[in-house]
Amino acid sequence: MALVALKNVTKTYPAPEKGGREVVAVDDVTLDIEPGDVYGIIGYSGAGKSTLVRLVNALEPASSGSIEFDGRELTGLPERELRKIRLGIGMIFQQFNLFSSKTVAGNIAYPLKVAGWSKAEIAPRVAELLEFVGLSDKAKSYPEQLSGGQKQRVGIARALATSPRLLLADEATSALDPETTQEVLELLKRVNREFGVTIVVITHEMDVIQSIATKVAVMDGGRVIENGDVFDVFSTPKNSSSQRFVATVVKGLPSPAELAVLRERHEGRIVTISFRDGDASQAQVFLELARAGLDFELVYGGINDIQGRAFGHLTLAIRGEDAATDAALASIAARVEVTEAA
Ligand SMILES: Nc1ncnc2c1ncn2[C@@H]1O[C@H](COP(=O)(O)OP(=O)(O)OP(=O)(O)O)[C@@H](O)[C@H]1O
Ligand SMILES: [Mg+2]
Repeated sequence: MALVALKNVTKTYPAPEKGGREVVAVDDVTLDIEPGDVYGIIGYSGAGKSTLVRLVNALEPASSGSIEFDGRELTGLPERELRKIRLGIGMIFQQFNLFSSKTVAGNIAYPLKVAGWSKAEIAPRVAELLEFVGLSDKAKSYPEQLSGGQKQRVGIARALATSPRLLLADEATSALDPETTQEVLELLKRVNREFGVTIVVITHEMDVIQSIATKVAVMDGGRVIENGDVFDVFSTPKNSSSQRFVATVVKGLPSPAELAVLRERHEGRIVTISFRDGDASQAQVFLELARAGLDFELVYGGINDIQGRAFGHLTLAIRGEDAATDAALASIAARVEVTEAA
């Protein structure tokens, strides 16, 4: 059974101005998040990612549709019941949202106090969490004395205090530099592996999805336009709007503006070859071009690694007779994806 099951969930906000149109922040979203998933949600700014997370956390009610957490329908539950359910859901934020007047230990103890734990129970639990996130020596520090990465570790420890089954991370690494981002992502991986916590990561960064997510949903205009296995969604997006979004985040695909520059700089036909793990080898492709007597030059490209599986895009400028080029490209296209710039 899914841990979180969204069915036809819509969230609308009243029009910002009188006479204006209401905002459909989340539009008819149906999505299952299975126990143990690290589910990435990616999309342009304003796509509805944060709103979706607030609905899952029952911070706001959906306008329509059904949201089940662990088999229980959230819609219509009284606040008292929702508060109990929220204990089973941890959340971390871009700005960390720590209490600046509390120590690190005090921040982590806070949700335990709210949940009614005694002092004698709280102390060992806080020590255990500090150890897990590698901050045992910072128990008495205040948030302002910590680096961004350390603050987010405290945020993670606090979110895990009550042993939630689900952790929601909304742009949790967006305020961090790339190296610190990787450290925090490694910690989240351990949270998932060692405690079996299901994680939903909201991000607009491909790197985050690539290094941690097992599944991904692409959102655009409130809708989930594509979802599934991370490798499949990013290597072969199915519909044109997810293709457009994916092209902005994957490595190696030239944008229309970049293609125009390539065409100006290089003679010959500009052709992009897209490889996936398990496709014909690149050597075969190059061999085929050489055999046809074509001169070619690699002018743009990149390889994406998603948890050990690679896909990439190589753009070539090919010079030679048109008929020979057509024949070679047709034969290559039987094995890998070939796109010629118009
Ligand atoms: N409380 C609110 N009242 C009115 N409109 C809102 C509210 N919250 C969000 N919206 C609108 O809903 C849409 C989706 O916003 P949301 O914050 O969910 O996007 P997002 O995908 O998280 O974007 P970002 O990547 O910039 O964080 C936007 O058009 C936003 O202006
Ligand atoms: Mg957001």
